Amino acid sequence: MYRSHNCGELRMDHIGQEVTLSGWLQTSRDFGGMTFIDLRDRYGITQLVFNMDDEAEICGRARKLGREYVLKITGLVRERTNKNPNRPTGNIEIEVKTLEVLNASKTPPFTIEEETDGGDELRMKYRYLDLRRPVVQKNLIFRSELAIATRKYLSGEGFIEVETPVLIKSTPEGARDFVVPSRMNKGQFYALPQSPQTFKQILMVSGLDKYFQIVKCFRDEDLRADRQPEFTQIDCEMSFVTQEQILNTFEALTKNLFKETLNVELPDFPRMSYDDAMRLYGSDKPDLRFGMQFVEMNDFAKGKGFGVFDSAELVVGICAEGQADKFSNKDIKILTEWMQRPQIGAKGLVYVKCNADGTFKSSVGKFYSDDELKIWAEKFGAKAGDILFVLSGEDEKTRKQLNELRLEMGNRMGLIKEGDFKPLWVVDFPLLEWDEDSERFHAMHHPFTSPKKADMERMMKGDHETMKSLRADAYDLVINGSEIGGGSIRIHDRELQSKNFDLLGFTKEEAEAQFGFLMSAFEYGAPPHGGIALGFDRLCAVLNGQSSIRDFIAFPKNNTGRDMMIDAPSPIANDQLDELGIGLQEEVLE
Ligand code: AMO
Repeated sequence: MYRSHNCGELRMDHIGQEVTLSGWLQTSRDFGGMTFIDLRDRYGITQLVFNMDDEAEICGRARKLGREYVLKITGLVRERTNKNPNRPTGNIEIEVKTLEVLNASKTPPFTIEEETDGGDELRMKYRYLDLRRPVVQKNLIFRSELAIATRKYLSGEGFIEVETPVLIKSTPEGARDFVVPSRMNKGQFYALPQSPQTFKQILMVSGLDKYFQIVKCFRDEDLRADRQPEFTQIDCEMSFVTQEQILNTFEALTKNLFKETLNVELPDFPRMSYDDAMRLYGSDKPDLRFGMQFVEMNDFAKGKGFGVFDSAELVVGICAEGQADKFSNKDIKILTEWMQRPQIGAKGLVYVKCNADGTFKSSVGKFYSDDELKIWAEKFGAKAGDILFVLSGEDEKTRKQLNELRLEMGNRMGLIKEGDFKPLWVVDFPLLEWDEDSERFHAMHHPFTSPKKADMERMMKGDHETMKSLRADAYDLVINGSEIGGGSIRIHDRELQSKNFDLLGFTKEEAEAQFGFLMSAFEYGAPPHGGIALGFDRLCAVLNGQSSIRDFIAFPKNNTGRDMMIDAPSPIANDQLDELGIGLQEEVLE
């Protein structure tokens, strides 16, 4: 028997018992006559004591053990004289009677404790050691609980979990596909699913009615803190449903998951149209943990002789409450430079400080009198001590830039409180977006998304200008400024689907070759249907107040999409390539 108890469970009640524990040596302290070892497993840490006087031979061996050795001990539980209130097992220790080394360990390249000295890359290379750290294990345990709670809730609501294939044909979700060559069909490739979108729709045609799957998805896109090339979705689809029913179902799921994992009761989720989100926050995923809504200023800031504003499509600003005296000229210069970095790309930043005596200090004071600035302040609801930040330029770009500033100010002003959760539904997304570079429309969500009923006729007519204003039954779930999920009511009519492919620039032949199977299925009695997918990794991170999803994935990829531990991707042997019919390695490398 390797253990009678684990390293996290012994308490005062166990005093006097003989126990067997197994685990890893976390730290060892040698005081000559006595040696203390902290033994760690998934459940906690227990202090072991080796006494030179009583057990000289065992103590002698214990003194030589290094970090991360795997040990099995038996001993007596006794009360500690020097208690550790920070540890659940801190009232007891084990007086060791037998010691067996189950395995030795090289000295680990970083410390395996709550706080580690290892850098990102090193920890990813030795992920098996990083995963021994309680903080990382806690995240994986949380993830497991969240998955179990999800399955429990959805199956309770009548959803069936169905596995869909991983070797499929490309689905256009907006990113590039990872492809897999086929040996048996030389020169042909499978694609890994960016999502099971078409399969879940087919399952609705098959009458499965309510489907879900906790499923891996693959997207070859640039990586960020909240993006991995392989990630997990809670993917769902329902038949005979309206948008309203879908929102209610998945709002209830989300509330249930918060309750089950955090014991947090979320209030009903507000809803905001895409247009309002862009107008008030410059983002389709506004962080509602703080206000600082945009104020559009064209009406009162233009036409006063300030050329930059006069020539701009949009003048828009935010008010940072009580921040006037926090910004010296130098601070404003630094903030302006921050806004001018290529990542944001603002041309400049105008400020107005509201002084206590009713006057104003502003970078555009030359162009606007105090009376005029007073009107500005009124429009913003600004009071003495506040500072306004104003941007101008092309509408969409300027809003995006101001969104960055708003988020930065929210952070700086400490408006983002730990444990605060602000979910919302963003609804009424445009169906299509115009892409200047390729001079064509793209599906804002994906090409299977249905336009709103009221817009269907206009869509079928298909004149270019009208297309931009079509609205979709598409929605996103946003929590704390993070896009947690997205979905839509789908097109279930062959003709409408075919029209949509047409608008998206597919020829009839291309649409048929890629999605003929789906359009054919629509000819055999496809029910009205719709669904959503929640980003499971993002949900884990948001529930834990974190923005990076990496720590919630057992074996994540680094910023260049590499698995540092197994060193993938990697070249493959020439004969393997040959067998696949995709050319020899030398040619690939050239
Ligand atoms: P969408 O593309 O919006 O919709 O994806 C759904 C959710 O998946 C998460 N997500 C990601 N998480 C981590 N890394 C990534 N690279 C990544 N990409 C997306 C986000 C996102 O909201 N088939 C549709 C769903 C539907 O219409 O039902 C889809 O995949 O949280």
